Amino acid sequence: MAQFSDLLHRTLFRTISLLTPHRQSLVLRRYFDWWHRSPDPWLLATSPYEQRKYEETLKALPDRSYRTIIDVGCSEGVFTRMLANARPDAEITGVDISETALTRARRHAPSVRFLQADLFSLTGRYDLVVCSETLYYLGSRLEDASERLCGLLGPEATLLSVHPWPEARRLHRFFDASLELAAEQVVEDTDRPFAISLYFR
Ligand SMILES: C[S@@+](CC[C@H](N)C(=O)[O-])C[C@H]1O[C@@H](n2cnc3c(N)ncnc32)[C@H](O)[C@@H]1O
Repeated sequence: MAQFSDLLHRTLFRTISLLTPHRQSLVLRRYFDWWHRSPDPWLLATSPYEQRKYEETLKALPDRSYRTIIDVGCSEGVFTRMLANARPDAEITGVDISETALTRARRHAPSVRFLQADLFSLTGRYDLVVCSETLYYLGSRLEDASERLCGLLGPEATLLSVHPWPEARRLHRFFDASLELAAEQVVEDTDRPFAISLYFR
């Protein structure tokens, strides 16, 4: 059943991605504002599964300092907050297409800068780029999205991408082609396996 709903989900977002980029952005913004009409629609703050994923993700980060970090597709900033606690010296930016999600994120993490933007419009250079559970919304524009994320990497920067396994193989394939895969951890002892992939520029 989960596979059928995943298929419907992917088909919906693939169809949206066939619109012009401008319309895709408008539709995604409306959709995700509607999706966030009630707080924490994916239970990111309370689900033990999500907490474990966040903890494993933090553990996967290299032991080096990052001056600037961007978390793309941050929703209400649950993981962004954890990052801010783990890396108190970093300047952290959380980005999401939904302003509704960000209004809550700002309340919970006043020290983080939260920015409403479509991933495709992002510019700048960061030492660490995080993208978790977001690429499957971009449908046929996955390659453009991956290029945009790679373009945010400054010199010697790190990209951290976390997505369901084995779908992560497909979702991360453009990173595989243009960056150096430094480490990949697949967590399989759960009913929703996921991969944490770490790339260096
Ligand atoms: C499932 S949530 C992931 C939240 C968080 N990264 C995590 O792993 O817990 C996906 C988020 O991606 C955002 N999103 C989807 N398409 C986007 C786009 N084109 N640009 C920016 N954010 C987008 C959605 O609004 C949503 O909040």
